[in-house]
Amino acid sequence: MSLDAIVARALAQFAAAPDAAALENAKARYLGKGGELAAFRPSGTAEERRVAGAAFNAAKQRVEAALEARRAALADAKLNARLGEEALDVTLPARGHGRGGVHPVIRTWQRVEAIWQTLGFDVAEGPEIETDWYSFTALNNPENHPARSMQDTFYVDLKDEQGIALNLRPHTSPMQVRYARMHSPPIKVIAPGRTYRVDSDATHSPMFHQVECLWIDEDISFADLKGVYTDFLRRFFENDELEVRFRPSYFPFTEPSAEIDMKLKGRWLEISGSGQVHPTVVRNFGLDPERYIGFAFGSGLERLTMLRYGIEDLRLFFDGDLRFLAQFP
Ligand code: PHE
Repeated sequence: MSLDAIVARALAQFAAAPDAAALENAKARYLGKGGELAAFRPSGTAEERRVAGAAFNAAKQRVEAALEARRAALADAKLNARLGEEALDVTLPARGHGRGGVHPVIRTWQRVEAIWQTLGFDVAEGPEIETDWYSFTALNNPENHPARSMQDTFYVDLKDEQGIALNLRPHTSPMQVRYARMHSPPIKVIAPGRTYRVDSDATHSPMFHQVECLWIDEDISFADLKGVYTDFLRRFFENDELEVRFRPSYFPFTEPSAEIDMKLKGRWLEISGSGQVHPTVVRNFGLDPERYIGFAFGSGLERLTMLRYGIEDLRLFFDGDLRFLAQFP
């Protein structure tokens, strides 16, 4: 076997080795102890052995160089394969953050404000932690009214100047008193905001939202309230034919009192408490009930939202489930 033939086979096998392990096996066949090159023994005269030795060294160097080159090539290929697998495609769209959206109840809040503002009503906000006087007494609630009880109202571990526990307002009606005591008639205001009651089921949440309305002037009537409220509902529900009715009811702070119902898909649904502000309450506004007459209502913002979007369970508003919330982009 000529040296050239051995070198040619070694180079071919190195080139064909698919990975480092196969390459090291091929190396052993040619360069290892007992390998094909190791068996070479120069013979003949001194001059012949010198020539043969030089040829052997040259052949061995070629095989070693080919081995190194193939090792480097295999290592490169392995690295490239890994880089390919772990590639970062910088042209992919970013995962990004959603744009978020306005909570459906807050949308209703904004929508309610916008509509009442076009009807000439001011928008006011007030405290969620209230005194007993604003939440109950000023609103003509008798001392033993159930709304005052611990079963209905959340109390705070703080007392007012009279030593009476503060409450988380159970309705927005205290805002009637707060606003009327700071403005003079004619008064036209709505006061949306958070309210609290000890109550929790598919249609009640311990925290919910109401919008209060107060309208005080010298010569207004229930007909005016009915007119603006009907106008509001028709615009809110985008239905010019929407029917509204007033049904007798009772609230300590209004006399007479009425529930406002609206007709939806052939059914009458309660949407608001309302009434002519009780003379005692008008007096607590600091106004003369002989001269001024007032009308008020309070509507639930969750209820308006549920009817507008056909939502059946109030708890969806507070679960924070994006599958629900994302429907209101
Ligand atoms: N405050 C009443 C409630 O929470 C609603 C209401 C407001 C009724 C104003 C009459 C007038 O149920």
